[in-house]
Amino acid sequence: MSSVVNDTKIPNNVDLAGDRKLQRALEEWQPNFLKWWVEMGPEGFQADDVYLRTAVSVEPDGWAHFDYVKMPDYRWGIFLSDAVTDRRIGFGDEMGKPAWQQVPGEHRNTLRRLIVTQGDTEPASVEQQRLLGQTCPSLYDLRNLFQVNVEEGRHLWAMVYLLHSHFGRDGREEAEALLERRSGDPDKPRILGTFNEPCEDWLSFFMFTYFTDRDGKYQLLALAESGFDPLSRTTRFMLTEEAHHMFVGETGVLRVVQRACELQKLDPNGDARNQGGIDLGTLQRYLNFWFSSSLDLFGGEVSSNAASFFASGLKGRAKEAQYEDHVALTGTYRMQSLKGDAIVDEDVALRNAMNEVLRDEYVEDCQRGVDKWNRAIKEAGLAVELTLPHRRFNRRVGLHAGARFDPSGQPLSEAEWTHKSAAWLPTAADRAYVKSLMTRPIYAPGQMAHWIAPPKQGIKGRPVDFEYVRHT
Ligand SMILES: [Fe+2]
Ligand SMILES: [Fe+2]
Repeated sequence: MSSVVNDTKIPNNVDLAGDRKLQRALEEWQPNFLKWWVEMGPEGFQADDVYLRTAVSVEPDGWAHFDYVKMPDYRWGIFLSDAVTDRRIGFGDEMGKPAWQQVPGEHRNTLRRLIVTQGDTEPASVEQQRLLGQTCPSLYDLRNLFQVNVEEGRHLWAMVYLLHSHFGRDGREEAEALLERRSGDPDKPRILGTFNEPCEDWLSFFMFTYFTDRDGKYQLLALAESGFDPLSRTTRFMLTEEAHHMFVGETGVLRVVQRACELQKLDPNGDARNQGGIDLGTLQRYLNFWFSSSLDLFGGEVSSNAASFFASGLKGRAKEAQYEDHVALTGTYRMQSLKGDAIVDEDVALRNAMNEVLRDEYVEDCQRGVDKWNRAIKEAGLAVELTLPHRRFNRRVGLHAGARFDPSGQPLSEAEWTHKSAAWLPTAADRAYVKSLMTRPIYAPGQMAHWIAPPKQGIKGRPVDFEYVRHT
């Protein structure tokens, strides 16, 4: 068990004090991080006491401490899951060799790129969400937003620790650049598409935490398999925090669904919008957007990069142990692509299909929440079903980018797409309508905005009407 030091500038379980040079470098990065947080983190709430959980160790029970804290005083720490004794590389060409404690020279650039790409998503999402507090539907939701935000901040710390400790000057420069890019900035955007999309209303926030944070989960699961042991250990612990982010998304959407059903039933014409709510049609279009955008984050269907990450033991499949063949040199993967006007099957060498393998797991996992939302609709007595659009729908990356498909995956002409896509993706009018419901924040404990049902329970045994944020 690694021992935790919590009374230093940077809480950690990596014996930071034992490496003065590294400690100094991180302590120099810390004020830059804080400056970024104050500038780009939640706007208008930095002086408030927020009931937050803070990671204080990596023990399965008792890893987190809950208390009021002002966000700039949050104790962002560096925590690696405990080392596995005699850990071996679990897949690829190096399978069975001891996992690397240091970066192998030949993989240095690739590993750095993988870490930077993951690291970049963490502050990006904080930037995307920075104004949402000002339109919060309840104090409970406000607290959850901030919980997600501070933990994405900690995930940035996790990646910056790796950059500083293993990549020398290049790593330090990358750590600075992670604080310089800005979500949505045309001159210095964040690296991946979805992380530059505006997230300006709470329906988007719930969809983002359900679909986009879940992409994060699968990337972290794949990196947790890495032969580079420090990366494996840090991502394993990040997954502990990530679960709550997806919970926020799943239950957030569920509560909007529940309220949509109530209001639809209340209305003589069955229109939830007439009753001041979000209707299920709008919800489906938001779902279509965030799901399809998040699918892009997995990269191209056929990818020589993915093959080489796998071959060299840098990035595996999610829960690699579930597969029998960890070398994957012989298998093929059948995928569909558009050739001319027809969808044709194609067999791809398995290693080249690793992005698609990971995407499969992700899609299956996404469906679980959709099933729950549909159960709520059914319980309300309505005959509507939410669905995940086909994975070819609305893609900008990979085999299906540049072609048009309907939500069931059938090819469309550009003219058909122009004619019909307003029914499938949020329109400017949808976005304006959703925003119009969220013009003022709800700060009274226990009170909920009109368009969302209350949660089933509060946080950490506290009641729903607990004062989760003391807003001044
Ligand atoms: Fe994260
Ligand atoms: Fe997250």
